[in-house]
Amino acid sequence: MPHRYHNPVSIHSGRGSLERLPEILAGRRVVVVTFPEARGLGLVARLEALLKETLVAVIEDVRPNPDVAQLAELYNAFWEAGATCDAIVAVGGGSAIDTAKALMVGTASGKFDELLGLLATGQPFVPASVKPLIAVPTTAGTGSEVTPWATIWDAGNQKKYSLHLQQTWPEAAVIDPELMLSVPAGTTVSTGLDALSHALESIWNVNANPVSDTFAVSAVQDIFACLPALRNDLGNIELRERMALAALKAGMAFSNTKTALAHSISYEMTLRHGLAHGIACSFTLPIVLEKAWARSPDCDRTLQLLFGPDLGAGMQRLRDFLQALGVKTEFADYGVADSEAAAMIARAMAGARGKNFIGAAEVA
Ligand SMILES: NC(=O)c1ccc[n+]([C@@H]2O[C@H](COP(=O)([O-])OP(=O)(O)OC[C@H]3O[C@@H](n4cnc5c(N)ncnc54)[C@H](O)[C@@H]3O)[C@@H](O)[C@H]2O)c1
Ligand SMILES: [Zn+2]
Repeated sequence: MPHRYHNPVSIHSGRGSLERLPEILAGRRVVVVTFPEARGLGLVARLEALLKETLVAVIEDVRPNPDVAQLAELYNAFWEAGATCDAIVAVGGGSAIDTAKALMVGTASGKFDELLGLLATGQPFVPASVKPLIAVPTTAGTGSEVTPWATIWDAGNQKKYSLHLQQTWPEAAVIDPELMLSVPAGTTVSTGLDALSHALESIWNVNANPVSDTFAVSAVQDIFACLPALRNDLGNIELRERMALAALKAGMAFSNTKTALAHSISYEMTLRHGLAHGIACSFTLPIVLEKAWARSPDCDRTLQLLFGPDLGAGMQRLRDFLQALGVKTEFADYGVADSEAAAMIARAMAGARGKNFIGAAEVA
């Protein structure tokens, strides 16, 4: 079967790559969107020194899981001020990058309610104006720096929206593992497991192709090899660098396939049970592996490169890996009874991401 792989993001990676920002921006005036701890870590001062008078403003109160309640305020203030910048630089985890993706899309009225109305239709639209985005991830996880989509949460209404436009691909990604040295153990694990989930979800996916598979296999191998060691040695820059690259490769993989069943299940676990994204989308990986097995010869070949020919042994390997990182692997561990879990999986299978799952057609 012919296939196509496409990713337009210009990637700068490696220790010290943050220093490349002025060159990448080439004099453009920017607003920085970053996470609350960035100032205390000296990161805001570093950005001020790097960007000098081209830095128009810093938005630093970005809370985890960008929610419509906070985004409305940020968005309206950003566009009311005339968005007096040429580009946005997001420096943070997926929450800062996804917040910046919402900000970059200008509506005709400059009001967030209009953006939300457009997102609610679930259809692509052409924004009235767009600010280019440079994404600088400070966690090794979401891959949002190389994908065109953002998750926008509405916890009050137990909903989520997906922003996905041709215009929301970042222009460039700057992946500097030195920025990840301050990530605490729990977030290092949960974000690393998010990347593992992205890689596996791109393999058991109806949109998988040989290029996405190549990125995904390499990402899974790196994460298996590095994440447990990194959790016990958070200041190890070599391990941080390998995890940063693993998350990037996972991002490259799922940037072309989207996610699948484990992520579809995760949204309900986050909204209803408050689980961090990385845990919510990874604790089910052994169960989802079982459902993906023996669905397609191509997918099996790729999965067997990682797990060998025996499904039971593969599931156990994943379970052991997760449990050694302190992650519980059963729904019951999170207070979800078997019957509720089965209903949740069925709902997830019918959701937009669930339909990408290679086993969806057979199970439905
Ligand atoms: N767009 C995509 O493709 C995509 C993919 C997966 C997840 N997501 C979204 O990303 C969000 C999760 O992102 P995340 O997992 O990176 O977590 P996050 O951005 O919410 O960050 C987690 C915590 O770590 C802090 N933090 C971030 N970088 C730090 C650093 N260098 N040092 C110290 N603390 C730091 C943050 O302030 C926050 O408290 C979710 O909203 C999820 O929906 C998006
Ligand atoms: Zn994810």
